[in-house]
Amino acid sequence: MSKFARRGWRTPAECMAWVLAPVTEDVFRSQHYERQHLHVRREDPHYWSDLLTLADVNDHLSSRELNHPRVKLVNAEGGFPPSEEFTANDRIILPNLLRKFREGYTIVMSSMHDQMHDLGYFCDLMGNHLCHRFQTNLYLTPQDGSQGFKCHYDTHDVFILQIYGRKLWRLYDSPFPLAHKSLPFEQNRVSPGGPAIEILLEQGDMLYIPRGQMHEAISVDDVSLHITGGLLGVTYAEMVTEYFLDRVMHDEDLRRNLPLGYIHDPDQAAMVIKVHMERLFRKEADWRMAVDRFAVNFMRQSRPRLEGQFLQVRCVDDLDLGTRIAIRPNVMVYLSVKEDRVDIEHSGNTITFPITLSGALRAILEKAELTIGEIPDELDDEAKLVLARRLVLEGILEVRDPGLLGEKGFGLLQAVVRD
Ligand SMILES: [Fe+2]
Repeated sequence: MSKFARRGWRTPAECMAWVLAPVTEDVFRSQHYERQHLHVRREDPHYWSDLLTLADVNDHLSSRELNHPRVKLVNAEGGFPPSEEFTANDRIILPNLLRKFREGYTIVMSSMHDQMHDLGYFCDLMGNHLCHRFQTNLYLTPQDGSQGFKCHYDTHDVFILQIYGRKLWRLYDSPFPLAHKSLPFEQNRVSPGGPAIEILLEQGDMLYIPRGQMHEAISVDDVSLHITGGLLGVTYAEMVTEYFLDRVMHDEDLRRNLPLGYIHDPDQAAMVIKVHMERLFRKEADWRMAVDRFAVNFMRQSRPRLEGQFLQVRCVDDLDLGTRIAIRPNVMVYLSVKEDRVDIEHSGNTITFPITLSGALRAILEKAELTIGEIPDELDDEAKLVLARRLVLEGILEVRDPGLLGEKGFGLLQAVVRD
């Protein structure tokens, strides 16, 4: 089990609370999210050490096959050096990469949640809680005033987790508040506005920057390592656009032409269009369908890490009514009750149950942890066990009985050694 999962997360909300602490999520949502930056100062240099350390990155660089452009170099003055200077056939040549690092280039490691198990689990929890995709990039910057990127803005919100060393951040006014990916940063189109807000981000600290806010960061003394957690949000505009494009197939009214001659009398046309649109947009049931559609898409794209699933499956026949089970905190589950059945969307799968199980399924999914015997009594004991086994095999539930897992795990190791 990864060191981050070993922290024993019970719900994804706990992970969000950990990222923000001691600031509460209520304060973050009401005062900072999509509004203004938040610097959480902790004076706890080891705060992130269960998630990532400089040693973890050293191990990764030393032991894994690294490829460009997932791993690349950047420097505020020199930009991106030619990849031939540190790769061969897109494979990173580590001594060359580190030579460039010593020359002042920041090493950028993109989408590391796909490469490092702890970061993957972290992104599962954050994405599950926020219901928007969450990703991680790593930035390893040389000491003494090195700067990776020139002053810029990003088109997604970022959570900067300072893992090692410290960095001086300068934040400026936003030229395009909440800049969207349709407004990507272009160096010669905008320049930083207003006096800089200077923030010295110390090891263990966190800095949230809303999308669109200009920023730059410079290392101070020692090398600096930070995670940038990126919240890849779906905007209202995207939801409306995608949803109504899809509805065109099903809704005749959306296929009607604009009023004949509408350009000749634009005021009248605007009034007719407004009335028509208000009628189309008024139906709450449509918006509920839009949410369902986005939820299912979100589920289908997610591939949560199933910690210890092999050992879970191995002990599944030994479950009894006293076995403690819990929904995996990093697995997102969407339950939709139809007329005759219950569909559960999770991890790219849809599984279907008879409608008679809807109460039991709700009870299981709403509780952080329970014993199989505590599944509602509308099911008999054997049915409770069958349902629990199925949900464990699917990777939705996990067995939280150390004895059961431990004995089986030990048995497994013995078997491997004997073989
Ligand atoms: Fe940035």
